[in-house]
Amino acid sequence: MAINPSMDAPPAVKAPLGLPLLTYIQQDPLGAASHFQRRLGDVARLNILFRRIYYFFSPEAARQILVDHQADFTREARLLKIFESFQGKNVLTTEGADWERQRRILAPGFSPKRISGYINLMRAAIHDSVREELPAVRGGSAIVDVDALTTCITMDVILRTLFSQPTTRTEANRVSTAIRALTRQSMREVFWAFIPPEWMPYPGRAEKRKHLRVINTLIATQVDARKSGVTSSGSSQDVLEMLLAARDDQPTSASATLTSKEIHDNCVLLFSAGFDTASSALTWWIGLMATHPEVVARLRDEIGAASAGASPIESVARLPYLNATIKEAMRLYPPSTALFTRVALRDVVIGDTPVKKGTLVVIPIWHLHRDPRSFDEPGAFRPERFMPGAPAIPRSAYLAFGAGPHFCLGQHFATIEMALIAAHIVQNFDLSMEDGAVLPEPVVDIALKPKTPLRVRFTRR
Ligand code: HEM
Repeated sequence: MAINPSMDAPPAVKAPLGLPLLTYIQQDPLGAASHFQRRLGDVARLNILFRRIYYFFSPEAARQILVDHQADFTREARLLKIFESFQGKNVLTTEGADWERQRRILAPGFSPKRISGYINLMRAAIHDSVREELPAVRGGSAIVDVDALTTCITMDVILRTLFSQPTTRTEANRVSTAIRALTRQSMREVFWAFIPPEWMPYPGRAEKRKHLRVINTLIATQVDARKSGVTSSGSSQDVLEMLLAARDDQPTSASATLTSKEIHDNCVLLFSAGFDTASSALTWWIGLMATHPEVVARLRDEIGAASAGASPIESVARLPYLNATIKEAMRLYPPSTALFTRVALRDVVIGDTPVKKGTLVVIPIWHLHRDPRSFDEPGAFRPERFMPGAPAIPRSAYLAFGAGPHFCLGQHFATIEMALIAAHIVQNFDLSMEDGAVLPEPVVDIALKPKTPLRVRFTRR
């Protein structure tokens, strides 16, 4: 539908306390969006520095933007440029034909069949990390900073599945610190009035270069070793091998394989997209398990029944309740809540709202996931919502992995990884929190993280 001049633009909003809107959103993106929704309902219009920004709070609008009208929207060029300055040109930072080609080449490497080949590497990483970080002797008990624990495990999983190499704790910490610092720097740059060129000194540039060296050296060393045959044995199932062998099944004039630079840039992407999201999801899942012992008891029954005589991949597939607890944890605490935006490529109408070319639209996943129109008692932890036979969830009301052509490439990877980690934890540990303790408030810190440390007691069973 074309924009009709008589259509009303949605009402505008001001920040409370006279704060500039941009600072308000930067400091508290979830609180700011809640304020906009309370004041203005399903569509909120802001004007910031001559920029039109619309928040759409209904699942129908999210569906239209991400799926039905996907060709009328693109990811924001400015955002892609900022991320390109540390990730290079990979499937996350490109658009158009370049993105299509990379996505086509990479997709088979992230199919459920291919992911099953990474399972042994994932399991080795999980066992080693848990052995190092958690009590090993039956009855042994420790209070653990859950986010630090899930960071170790998920970073180890990414390093091991990428390169087949066991890494030291120091190495894994260096990589996660570097990736988090680089992503935080990118998030700061998003709010700057202009993007400084690399030759110009700017706040954080020296640190950015230092962290980039850590990541680039690690990847270059691993790729060189693989190409020269030093680390080839036993690694035929890892992600690097997949990247080196990947072929375009619809070759265009561009290369039918990934270039060396693209392989490097997609390795950086896997670090940045692949570990903090899963770490965030598992952190909240562990907190929810520590506060819902009845759910843990049901999970142990399910896992016990499913694992008898089954391979790990089969048993993960036979764990609907476990998978439902993870989905429900990501509904309450969606890891990727920041920067879920698109820009209108042309004038378009979403629902009955006219959206002009160039408008930035925000999809507020947190608010969609807690909308009482889509989820009964939205604040309650109820894994049953995701069990087979439960009433259908409205389309695009649940967007933990996104929707449309850019939906998460690593969805199967993350689903299997999280199920393996979660099953290992409930089978081996009792989880509890101090009497009366509740889950911390969430904060958007790259992914959705606890504002104050989430501490859980792990007792070996
Ligand atoms: C719980 C874990 C994860 C969550 C919640 C998550 C969430 C998301 C979301 C919401 C998007 C869509 C962004 C948009 O449309 O703008 C996305 C895209 C993406 N994710 Fe994930 N992700 C997770 C894990 C992973 C993992 C493990 C990998 C890789 C191994 C990965 C790789 C990607 C890539 C490459 C894209 C961009 C796809 C494209 O633009 O074509 N993600 N993810």
